[in-house]
Amino acid sequence: MKIQTTRFIGSFNKISELPQAGIPEFCFIGRSNVGKSSLINYLCSKKDLAKVSSTPGKTQSLNFFLINENWHLVDLPGYGYARRSKSLRNDWEKTMYQYFLERDTLINIFILIDSRIPPQKLDLELIDWFGEHQIPFSIIFTKADKRDLKNSMNNIGLFKTKMQENWEEIPTHFITSSEEKKGKEEVLALIETLVYQSI
Ligand code: GTP
Ligand code: MG
Repeated sequence: MKIQTTRFIGSFNKISELPQAGIPEFCFIGRSNVGKSSLINYLCSKKDLAKVSSTPGKTQSLNFFLINENWHLVDLPGYGYARRSKSLRNDWEKTMYQYFLERDTLINIFILIDSRIPPQKLDLELIDWFGEHQIPFSIIFTKADKRDLKNSMNNIGLFKTKMQENWEEIPTHFITSSEEKKGKEEVLALIETLVYQSI
């Protein structure tokens, strides 16, 4: 799939305020600083569709984009940002769980995992939660740059080993680097297939 048009729809803080149009939706989530915004820009071949920052915790609301006039891409706030207050974190969790459980048009969640660091408990917990609730998702390993590929592949291997503790099969996953423009065709091909299946 080629991305031809992208349009920013809006930023939303409450599930009740989300756009009601019944078009297929794909969201991107991950720990703060995992490279979500960079990946979204890379997928869409846009420099600054989603804001990239070196300050963690930049994305605070659900940011909606309409892609090719026929599907929604949603940039979700990052989790695991330690400097956010506890009550804010709880609010975030409630909103996200509600979104994952109740959003009818949500076709697939892409959970981003930083391949430059060893497996993180928060990521594994969220993945297990998706499993418990039978919510469809795929994994995108980010920052698998060539110059540090050995380290990345090692971490990805460790992550899969950890997952095998609770999962019989490792779910669909992708290895990407936004910096080196690697992995986008595979991700977009899955989205294309799922969009067609949904209509
Ligand atoms: P928040 O919205 O703040 O939670 O962050 P985010 O997950 O949207 O991450 P963002 O795209 O802003 O990137 C965070 C940092 O990682 C930035 O400094 C990016 O330049 C860097 N980064 C993103 N993708 C890659 C990559 O493929 N390789 C490398 N080496 N760095 C990357
Ligand atoms: Mg971001």
